Amino acid sequence: MATFFVNGAEYTVEKKQKLLRFLRDELHITSVKDGCSEGACGACTVLIDGEPCRACVPDTERLDGRRVLTVEGLSDFEKAAYTFAFGEAGAVQCGFCIPGMVLCAKSLLDKRSDPTEEQIRFAIRNNYCRCTGYVKIVAAIRLAGKILRERTIPLPSVTDWKIGSRVQRLDVEEKVLGYGKYPDDFYMDGMCHASAVRSKYARARVKSIDASLARNLPGVIAVLTAADIPGANKIGHISHDQYTLIPVGGLTHYLGDAVAIVVAEDRETLEKAKKLVKVDYEVLTPIRSIEEASAPFAPLVFEEEPSNVQSYRCFRRGNAADAIKNAKFVLSEHFETPCTEHAFLEPECAVSYLDADGDVMILSSDQSPHTTLRECRMMLGTERVKVRNALVGGGFGGKEDLSVQHHAALAAYCVRRPVKVKLSRAESLLVHPKRHHFEMDFTMGCDENGKILGLKAVCKSDTGAFASLGAPVLERACIHAAGPYAYENFEVEGTAYYTNNPPAGAFRGFGVTQTCFAVETLLNQMADLVGISPWELRYRNAIRPGGVLPNGQIVDESTGLVETLEAIKPFYDEAVAAGKPVGLACAMKNAGVGVGLPDYGRCKLIIKEDGKAHIHTGASCIGQGLGTVLTQMVVSATGLRREDIVYERADSYIGPDSGDTSGSRQTLVTGEACLRACEKLREAKGDRPLAELIGEEFYGEYYAKTDPLGANVPNPVSHVAYGYATQVCILDSKTGLIETILAAHDVGKAINPLSCEGQIEGGVVMGMGFALREQYPIDSNCKPIEKFGELGLFRAHETPAVKAIVVEKPGLNVACGAIGIGEITSIPTAPAVADAYFRLDGERRLTLPLANTPYARK
Ligand code: FES
Ligand code: FES
Repeated sequence: MATFFVNGAEYTVEKKQKLLRFLRDELHITSVKDGCSEGACGACTVLIDGEPCRACVPDTERLDGRRVLTVEGLSDFEKAAYTFAFGEAGAVQCGFCIPGMVLCAKSLLDKRSDPTEEQIRFAIRNNYCRCTGYVKIVAAIRLAGKILRERTIPLPSVTDWKIGSRVQRLDVEEKVLGYGKYPDDFYMDGMCHASAVRSKYARARVKSIDASLARNLPGVIAVLTAADIPGANKIGHISHDQYTLIPVGGLTHYLGDAVAIVVAEDRETLEKAKKLVKVDYEVLTPIRSIEEASAPFAPLVFEEEPSNVQSYRCFRRGNAADAIKNAKFVLSEHFETPCTEHAFLEPECAVSYLDADGDVMILSSDQSPHTTLRECRMMLGTERVKVRNALVGGGFGGKEDLSVQHHAALAAYCVRRPVKVKLSRAESLLVHPKRHHFEMDFTMGCDENGKILGLKAVCKSDTGAFASLGAPVLERACIHAAGPYAYENFEVEGTAYYTNNPPAGAFRGFGVTQTCFAVETLLNQMADLVGISPWELRYRNAIRPGGVLPNGQIVDESTGLVETLEAIKPFYDEAVAAGKPVGLACAMKNAGVGVGLPDYGRCKLIIKEDGKAHIHTGASCIGQGLGTVLTQMVVSATGLRREDIVYERADSYIGPDSGDTSGSRQTLVTGEACLRACEKLREAKGDRPLAELIGEEFYGEYYAKTDPLGANVPNPVSHVAYGYATQVCILDSKTGLIETILAAHDVGKAINPLSCEGQIEGGVVMGMGFALREQYPIDSNCKPIEKFGELGLFRAHETPAVKAIVVEKPGLNVACGAIGIGEITSIPTAPAVADAYFRLDGERRLTLPLANTPYARK
């Protein structure tokens, strides 16, 4: 037992428990986030007697007489100061890390009112942020210090909500003060908890399941098995190849496969009961690598398939072999890139219950409520399902596939009570699809002037246990393997293999991150062979408006690669002239799904009883700021004031299906749909006040039409738009540490330049992790890493200066010319960093993470 204070109120706590559980489960102080429950992420940071402490570490009984502070306990002035500072600096994206950051800042600023950047970075060193790259969080803390010193909350520097304005995001306050709700923040009357019993073996046949002991444990409400599923057992993002629950007789594909779901009154009972479910297996040899999967007579991951090949793509244009044969300079190299983890700060969680209509409602943290809806309907065998997004604590592609939503829905459907399913961090690391491990062989030929004549590439990927998005990732990797350059002899062959490793799927960059590392590294080598600078080589070959990409597409006026090269040149030249080791790389990335697939943006503006225009769409905001983008579009296109507009979180029952938040597509496709809805509203409204339109709806739809791969046309339109980028990495030649990364990105039109910078800074730091440190090791039993703290993510005090350069190149005739940049920000970083290290020590590194750098892990 202990008596202590929380935000000034005294509590006596009898039960021994972690402080985090007491704050969240008993006091419902949900600003204190549960990102890992293992003392690694910092999302649960509180102050104890003024010092930062991770609330998941101490037991309450150690807190006698101590004073605990959460953001709810800040003074009103402090709340206003931190909200303003974080909003003004653009420091809030998904928001999951932010209350913890604020408390670290308070602890620092209470002691030092005007800290240095180094002191700020040191103060937040134990708190990870996966979205922002820390740049704007550091700026926010500095600004908060100024406001607290001067005791005055300034006016926002920008109040105009029109397109192009650096206005503060609309979700800042709820995220800074922690009252915005992620799924785990919902506590409902009668709510119980559910969790999956997962397979003990990566490849095994389930012979029997005995849940009798678990069912008899007091506090257990149900143990569900495949026999309890009313609809189809198999679900999956594209192919329906994944069991919701492995039936008796079924084959497991990886260690994340669920065999049963236990539903219990509380978490403790749940964990005990899971251990009591007895499963008998016939253990089979797992397939652990591309090599094993492709060996003759290899066992099959899917018994019904003829081989372990999940997907094969071959793309040819011109005659690459001849072009290479006739080239003056030819280079051939083998590259490998690792499987990596998204490491979003919010682990997967869903809450499901029967709503007032008797429908199964799912509160979810995902990248498309409509995708979740389709799969859960199929599984439950009923249309009576609804999905609504809560706040999403980061996704980066890792929340495109179902993880917990179907389990929560099944449990709520069966037990007729609200049910929460939340993954532990170890489960999260195991369950959601990762970035694909790639093995690649590239050959390139150039003439004496450095003009690229042809490229041949062979790419193999380990797509793990299920199809997920393995095929589209492979496609995107192949189509972008040639880089953003003007040549037409290109041949690429790609194969994705099933293995019994955790599945791989969407991850920021969608396969392009991997092939970009190969082609850009080869180009840097080629520049040395030709005897010109890497910058000059890019400039000579860069795709320009009207040019033809190696995939055959004629690019439009919005093509801004040259402008990114020109924007970065003064910095590049200066660093080279100063004798610093400098690496450079470029990239292109599609915006929109493309290649002939259905790609719709949809949006509704509804004038409600409050006399305001409510923006409804099925497009998820996963932290990138879609709500702010759409609001700025509505202000610009309708002339309404910001106060007249309400952005509603995505759902499946009012918001029309606008596809997944994936492929850097929402600003473009949902943005254009929103503008079309605005046009109708503007016409209907005329000079009337909005109040006269109450009850009316205005619907906008945009179809991004493209040609399928292999279309029988001379110049297929594979994608409606591409973003382009050039990044430069500058090293400190004495320490070997990165001094600065410069990132020039062509965004078409920056709807909100502050948000664009934030995307670039965060993407670059994620790209640095991919280049230098991040790994997702998997052992010989196909068991992956279990600890968040061991992923190798960069911390605030380890990140170098990142300079974002936003380049606007008009020409795209939809969405006001805006091209999404969610993914490209991470893509060229690794080859730029790799080349900088080559310039430092002469070692050409062809495998990631890069070996022999000061950042390399033992
Ligand atoms: S939840 Fe406590 S450190 Fe991650
Ligand atoms: S804003 Fe920091 S983790 Fe998303």
